[in-house]
Amino acid sequence: MQKILVTGGAGFIGSNFVHYVLDNTDHHVTVLDKLTYAGNLASLAGLPAERFSFVQGDICDGSLTDRLTAAADVVVHYAAESHNDNSLHDPRPFLDTNIIGTYTLIEAARKHNKRFHHISTDEVYGDLELEDPERFTESTPYNPSSPYSSTKAGSDLLVRAWVRSFGLQATISNCSNNYGPYQHVEKFIPRQITNVIDGIRPKLYGAGENVRDWIHANDHSAAVLTILDKGVTGETYLIGADGEKNNKDVVEQILTHMGLPGDAYDHVTDRPGHDLRYAIDSSKLRSELGWVPKFANFDAGIEDTIAWYRKHEEWWRPQKAATEARYQVQGQ
Ligand code: NAD
Ligand code: DAU
Repeated sequence: MQKILVTGGAGFIGSNFVHYVLDNTDHHVTVLDKLTYAGNLASLAGLPAERFSFVQGDICDGSLTDRLTAAADVVVHYAAESHNDNSLHDPRPFLDTNIIGTYTLIEAARKHNKRFHHISTDEVYGDLELEDPERFTESTPYNPSSPYSSTKAGSDLLVRAWVRSFGLQATISNCSNNYGPYQHVEKFIPRQITNVIDGIRPKLYGAGENVRDWIHANDHSAAVLTILDKGVTGETYLIGADGEKNNKDVVEQILTHMGLPGDAYDHVTDRPGHDLRYAIDSSKLRSELGWVPKFANFDAGIEDTIAWYRKHEEWWRPQKAATEARYQVQGQ
């Protein structure tokens, strides 16, 4: 049994990981989360009190992170400002949380000599052409495009420097786009599903040709647990499930599953600097650590996700109007 400190555990992927760990191991989990607009305690409802505790706080708070890190065996760091569109309108919180917050945590992990796992994104590598046969690997040079992805790239480089200069016992994973239940309605898939439920036409940025490499959040959680169990400190692992799809196809799939014509969407103003394509080569994780994704069928995963949003309106409804009002100001 290990004591795992999970930062950002009230967010989309962090809460999925907390459930995954409690369901599949005997570890104890403490979540440290600031409960920003993106954090939701309802995503952690019903967890066993003897194996789970929650602390509301900021990862930039040095004395709090020091105390919680000292009490843990392992720190798994999910907390971040995570949405590209927000970073284009107000970058400052991204610098505070993603850079200073990560720095604060790795200082605590260094001081107490604790195993650290840093959750990052494929966006640190920039983007690919549509027809490029190459995919991102662990040796692809960093080339981030947005304030969000550049702060994530900065946080990765801090962790790498702490490994090399101070011997921090850290691993890093860079994952592609996650989907599944409990994702905030600002993100692409839940935004379109909840728009359709509300009788609003889905909104595609630009021509809708941009490609994302989709992975179910459960497969991401399984990969992170595999890295904690078998990963080599100092190493980076890319996580992806060969799920490339363009945005237009995803919207058509959602519309069809929800009983509407596949072309019942609108094109809206494109995202500035919009990355064209992400694609992950996860051979290292598969061959060295034996991880394989289980949610191979994206169409079935989308159907389940639609059913979840239909059934759990009480979870997303409080966020919906404010999110759409924000997009309206941005012309999206
Ligand atoms: P999210 O926005 O849903 O959740 C972020 C969580 O972090 C929230 O609960 C929020 O309250 C918390 N948080 C924010 N600032 C904090 C602070 N200063 N102190 C403590 N807690 C704070 O994000 P997500 O989509 O679950 O992403 C989680 C992590 O996974 C991020 O590091 C992100 O970069 C990474 N990631 C996400 C994806 C994806 O597709 N969503 C893919 C790859 C990597
Ligand atoms: O690749 C991993 C990244 O995936 C994570 O690091 C980020 O935290 C996560 O938010 C996600 O970033 P994206 O910018 O790819 O995700 P988003 O859901 O915002 O958008 C997915 C695609 O859909 C992107 O090409 C933009 C487009 N889009 C998005 C919205 C919200 C639309 O066409 N319409 C929309 O309304």
